Amino acid sequence: MSTFLCFLWLTLLLLVTLIFRKKFKTSKLNHPPGPRKLPIIGNLHNLEGLPHKCLQNLSKIYGPVMKLHFGFVPIVIISSKQAAEEVLKTHDLDCCSRPETVATKKISYNFKDIGFAPYGEEWRSLRKLAVMELLNLKKLNSFRYIREEENDLFVKKLSEASVKHFPVNLTKALFTLIASIVCRLAFGQNLHESEFIDEDGMEELASRSEKLQGEFAFSNYFPGGWIVDRITGQSKNLEGLFSELDGFFNQVLDEHLKPGRIVLESPDVVDVMIDMMNKQGEDGHFQLTTDHIKGVISDIFLAGVNTSATTILWAMTELIKNPSVMKKVQEEVRTVLGEKKEKITEQDLNQLSYFKLVIKETFRLHPTAPLLVPRETMSPIKIQGYDILKKNQIMINVYAIARDPKTWENPDEFKPERFADSCIDYRGLNFELLPFGSGRRICPGMTMGIAMVELGLLNLLYFFDWVLPEGTTVKDIDMDEEGALIIGKKVPLELVPTRQH
Ligand code: HEM
Repeated sequence: MSTFLCFLWLTLLLLVTLIFRKKFKTSKLNHPPGPRKLPIIGNLHNLEGLPHKCLQNLSKIYGPVMKLHFGFVPIVIISSKQAAEEVLKTHDLDCCSRPETVATKKISYNFKDIGFAPYGEEWRSLRKLAVMELLNLKKLNSFRYIREEENDLFVKKLSEASVKHFPVNLTKALFTLIASIVCRLAFGQNLHESEFIDEDGMEELASRSEKLQGEFAFSNYFPGGWIVDRITGQSKNLEGLFSELDGFFNQVLDEHLKPGRIVLESPDVVDVMIDMMNKQGEDGHFQLTTDHIKGVISDIFLAGVNTSATTILWAMTELIKNPSVMKKVQEEVRTVLGEKKEKITEQDLNQLSYFKLVIKETFRLHPTAPLLVPRETMSPIKIQGYDILKKNQIMINVYAIARDPKTWENPDEFKPERFADSCIDYRGLNFELLPFGSGRRICPGMTMGIAMVELGLLNLLYFFDWVLPEGTTVKDIDMDEEGALIIGKKVPLELVPTRQH
């Protein structure tokens, strides 16, 4: 029966493809170039390995504005700073919606979130609320003590390993550091004491959620593809993973709604949103619901933890691979901060210049969302003279742009000095360097992300010297990547710390 259904589905698709082909052949539009597509699957056969790398290679053949079809879905890939500026600045409003996928619909509580919701009144209201009430500078400063306390604890744990000369799994350690900070300030959960989630549980949940977003689903690319997803068990898989995530979010909410809960002087993100929900009148057009709260929690959990932890990890990986840069940055850090600091505060970051270049260069070589989050056009536009139709997906390959030899000398080298006399920054205004995106959809957690990355890396560099475990050399460091929307380091980084102060 299931084979018959698949056969029927394929025959129908073939018919639809032939009709579509005929229609496109008569069109006079100037479509972007791209590899030849096959019936039904489009260009799916061209995708080998990690998408950002494969698309970078294809753009070397077809150019900076290139069109592919993933199944039936037209996708335009942007791979130059000029084309990125046209999309993200000139046509930002036309390009700032998001495509709908089965996973993003589920994980965002039917688009009651910021990251995956399509452009519209509801998204604008929720994003405004988040930017003004949850992620503003005042709130960021009120959580400074959490970032500093968690970093102190992190240094303490690393110091214990340093006494024993044990290698530390930095991938895991950094994930725990950032997850502890984010859980405290967003969900009021102390990971070290929480009754219902611990560090390992958190890591497991994050990696499952990552999978949830990245898993291939026929529904996303083929009309009627849900039939295949049902048959293959994909839909059930998605439901199972989602219910685990939802279970965690429900526990967070229940904890906050318990009678007699004492709200701290700096209330966490969930407290603030519950308070706003309770106080809102009925006349406003935007009504905050518990699904919106869960959608925002889901965003913060998925967008805030792995991105920041992975960035610090890549910085450490590059520094170990480039000992002269490590020496130079540690000299700066230790000279400027002095030899006898017991604790580092965020104020210490102000005076460091080479250190900031190291972070900039890390964002250039290792943007954690190398294709940003896909966008969808809301009206037809022209980019670099090419016609892009309404409801086309757009992916900006910021990985390829940040390694474009037309812009960067020796682009694959880790060389922070390249920024010494340059005013290029990574906050969304320079289109050759876009680790946080740009325009209306730019990362609203950028300031918080940068604060966590800077303080985490500074603690690692000030208090410890780092070497590879005995018997391994720089050549053994594996630079492979893995992931879906957020790309991480495939093989954990293990290093041995020696405490210096
Ligand atoms: C180093 C850390 C981080 C990096 C590299 C990063 C990167 C990004 C990128 C590339 C996007 C997509 C932008 C676009 O489509 O143009 C994004 C969106 C987003 N990020 Fe971040 N992010 C980081 C940290 C955070 C943190 C800490 C939070 C929350 C506390 C956060 C929340 C979000 C949200 C909600 C969106 C969706 C925005 C929208 O669609 O309107 N991010 N981030």
